[in-house]
Amino acid sequence: MATRTYSNLEFDLLRKWLDTNQDSTSEKITNELAELILKDYPSNRVLPTNSCMGSLHIALQTIGIGPGDEVIVDPIVTFAGMSVMYQNGVPVFADVDTNKMNVNPESIRNRITERTKAIICTHHFGSICDMEEILAIAKEHNLPVIEDCAHSLFALRNNKYAGLLGDFGCFSFNHRKQLSTGHGGFLTINNEEYAEKSKFTHFGRIPERINWNYNMPGVVAALAIAQWEHAKNYVKKDHDLAKLYTEAVEGCDWIVPQQIPEQNWCAYHIWAGVYKGDEKGIDYKEFMNALRTNGADYFLPSFIPYGTFGLEPSPVYLYPIFKEPKAYTKGCPTACPHYEGEVKYEKGLCPDAEYLVPRMLNTVLSPIEDERIKRYAEGLNKTIKQFS
Ligand SMILES: Cc1ncc(COP(=O)(O)O)c(C=O)c1O
Repeated sequence: MATRTYSNLEFDLLRKWLDTNQDSTSEKITNELAELILKDYPSNRVLPTNSCMGSLHIALQTIGIGPGDEVIVDPIVTFAGMSVMYQNGVPVFADVDTNKMNVNPESIRNRITERTKAIICTHHFGSICDMEEILAIAKEHNLPVIEDCAHSLFALRNNKYAGLLGDFGCFSFNHRKQLSTGHGGFLTINNEEYAEKSKFTHFGRIPERINWNYNMPGVVAALAIAQWEHAKNYVKKDHDLAKLYTEAVEGCDWIVPQQIPEQNWCAYHIWAGVYKGDEKGIDYKEFMNALRTNGADYFLPSFIPYGTFGLEPSPVYLYPIFKEPKAYTKGCPTACPHYEGEVKYEKGLCPDAEYLVPRMLNTVLSPIEDERIKRYAEGLNKTIKQFS
């Protein structure tokens, strides 16, 4: 990615925050950030938050998800499923499209029951899900849709930004993301009723209902304001640099890049491919070792969902956090007296995700300098030639 660009603005805004009453300045700066984001993300409400997880949770709280409710999520990363459990709801995993690496709308349709209360779709790696189909299914069943846009700041579908397509968009400014403030994020709300309802989630006043402290600190907002315009260039740069990887695998039929639908402009937080060398008799471990020897040492050995390092790569429902009902100490949310359904987080639940996840060959673009990306892409190409 582009080396991050700083100016005096970061320091001026930080100084302003340090020099004045931090409490009132914090709120003012955070409101300024919301106004700035609103210009690019015209929605009913923009709420700066401390993280994408906080944004997801606020969206679920606003909808009113609670014990006994099911929310459909994807099985590649843990975040959507975990956020559902924050509200003691039951995550129901839909399968993915192995080429697009995003949730398969038909699988969402098949998972809907009378207990389904919402859908969360994650735009993996910067490529937006098939939202027209997802929104049509949601409309048929009167379900709100939450977009997890942690990978897809400034990503487009039919010229519209991710986060403006469903009812809610949840963004991350964490240390791995293109716009990084260390921690942080924001929430877009594209529905008047939810925008009004979400007001209780601002921590600090006496709320009508329990709320969590997900407010973005002013010091973080100051950095985000200063970085906002630059971030558009970082994303464009990643989009361009991703071509190096795609070109590196051109002509190779055993590493297939994520298929980006033609309606999409991908933000390429991560470049992803599917490794099919095993189907050609190419040993995966030998391939990975050669990649490293050839200088492409940043490729994750396979896509290990965040937070599960050390475990075999698999769809997240096979990890203990979901498989064993211990999110809340008394067996909830699945073994909960309010829950009238039955979910089994077992092998065979999402066959396409089970095929895909262990074969994913991913590399993050965001925090890596151009020179290294060039070196990794050359290393990838050299390794492919060696095994072809
Ligand atoms: C797809 C996705 N959703 C949510 C999150 C959580 O983001 P945050 O660290 O801002 O809570 C991440 C973090 O990397 C992510 O990749």
